[in-house]
Amino acid sequence: MNDKGKIITGLVIFFAILTLPFWFNLGKAAPVPKPELSAKAKAAKQCVRSTEYMRAEHMQLLNDWRETVVRDAKRTYINEHGKAFNMSLSNTCLDCHDNKAQFCDRCHDYASARPYCWDCHIDNPKGEK
Ligand code: HEC
Ligand code: HEC
Ligand code: HEC
Repeated sequence: MNDKGKIITGLVIFFAILTLPFWFNLGKAAPVPKPELSAKAKAAKQCVRSTEYMRAEHMQLLNDWRETVVRDAKRTYINEHGKAFNMSLSNTCLDCHDNKAQFCDRCHDYASARPYCWDCHIDNPKGEK
């Protein structure tokens, strides 16, 4: 057997081992978790923007809020229905969604998203106050 054959055999084995975890897990994907609304959010019925918008764009909205507060020193956000909100991650989002673990985290853990916001922003405004 020449070296070329050995190399190819080696590559085939290497590739098989590399992809083994994938074949092993085929058809066993974890179910998509459902974020749970807190009693307070349920009572409020509506988010800052539509549910579809929030689901897809909440990171962008938070980014806009941060820039507006930090750069322009403006703290009031008016949504499309004319309702006013204090642009605050802890005091607005987490005041209504006061169950971060069952709401924000449940989605983020599934999506492997790790927002670093909580290094500075308190994640339980109720408990801290
Ligand atoms: C006054 C209460 C209230 C505030 C403040 C609020 N939310 Fe919501 N949020 C809700 C409600 C109620 C829903 C679900 C609406 C529905 O069932 O259609 C929701 C839905 C969402 C969703 C979509 C959930 C899903 O099932 O896909 C996300 C994401 C979200 N909110 C994030 C945020 C963020 C981030 C903020 C701050 C910028 C915020 N919310 C502020 C009440 C609130
Ligand atoms: C319906 C599922 C869902 C819910 C509920 C949800 N998120 Fe998210 N969030 C995501 C996903 C998915 C991403 C990652 C998006 C990406 O990487 O493009 C994300 C990303 C983010 C980011 C950006 C992270 C980064 O490093 O760029 C922030 C900030 C954030 N979420 C805040 C929140 C807060 C605060 C709440 C609760 C009030 C919340 N999210 C609730 C699904 C959700
Ligand atoms: C290194 C610390 C730090 C980190 C990390 C951080 N922030 Fe902030 N953030 C601040 C400071 C300081 C302010 C200004 C506080 C003020 O003026 O009220 C601020 C203000 C904000 C505001 C407006 C004021 C408020 O009460 O919320 C938003 C919204 C915000 N940040 C969102 C985020 C999001 C979303 C993340 C994560 C993707 C994040 N921040 C990560 C320090 C931080």
